[in-house]
Amino acid sequence: MSKKKMSILDFKKYKEEGKKITYVTAYDYTMASIVNDSDTEVILVGDSLGMIMLGYSGTINVTMDDMIHHIKPVVKGAPDTFVIGDMPFGSYNESIEQAIHNCSRMMKETLCDAIKLEGGAKYAPMIKELVKAGIPVCGHIGLTPQTTTSLGGFKVQGGTPESAKQLIEDAKALEEAGCFGIVLECVPSVVGEAITKAVSIPIFGIGAGPHVDCQVLVTQDLLGMYGDFKPKFVKLYAHIREEMVRALNEFHRETEEGIFPSEEYSFNKKVEIPE
Ligand code: KIV
Repeated sequence: MSKKKMSILDFKKYKEEGKKITYVTAYDYTMASIVNDSDTEVILVGDSLGMIMLGYSGTINVTMDDMIHHIKPVVKGAPDTFVIGDMPFGSYNESIEQAIHNCSRMMKETLCDAIKLEGGAKYAPMIKELVKAGIPVCGHIGLTPQTTTSLGGFKVQGGTPESAKQLIEDAKALEEAGCFGIVLECVPSVVGEAITKAVSIPIFGIGAGPHVDCQVLVTQDLLGMYGDFKPKFVKLYAHIREEMVRALNEFHRETEEGIFPSEEYSFNKKVEIPE
């Protein structure tokens, strides 16, 4: 089944039309091609690959080279899906020059469609320059996993009137700076709704309730593949990990019992073997 790839202009248009889209992660060719076969509109190659693919405890030690290595096969595997590459910690927060250099490098080397970076209003001047340099930028506010230590851990954000107001100001500043959309992570539903109403660019919510413009989940979470941790906002749409373990155990049992490979799975050409 083929679908039409979204263009950057569709994001605002879909919000105006009230069309809800989905945005999931992929970190390799096979998963990207599976997502590409689905109705999903957007793939994020998130720095969550640090945990999901590399077994790290967080995202801090993910590098530009890690990201580029994983984005390239995703772009190849998902030609009909809009692909966003995530900027890793430390790759854009030293200076505007560093941000332009690394964001351009990510787009040039991977041919992804856009980049995402974490941070609120204080990153607006830098985002303005990135957009001026021709780089489509997706913002990310609320729970920002790269700075969870400063936020005091993986906690719901915007839980007080002041912090909710600050998030609204952040979203407005990111829109003003030229972001085409904003990931909003882990906030109360009412805050998700208020931020969605406050800006004209789409809000991509993950743990941000039902009133946002788009729902985001990590693919390995929603498919029930990642066994280490399940946040409250993750709904399991499948139990693929159990199915994978079951299949591996069946292969193991059939091998032990000499059932596999049967004739069907063997090359049965007769060959005279010399003595
Ligand atoms: O890295 C990631 O997967 C993300 C999502 C949680 C939005 O940033």
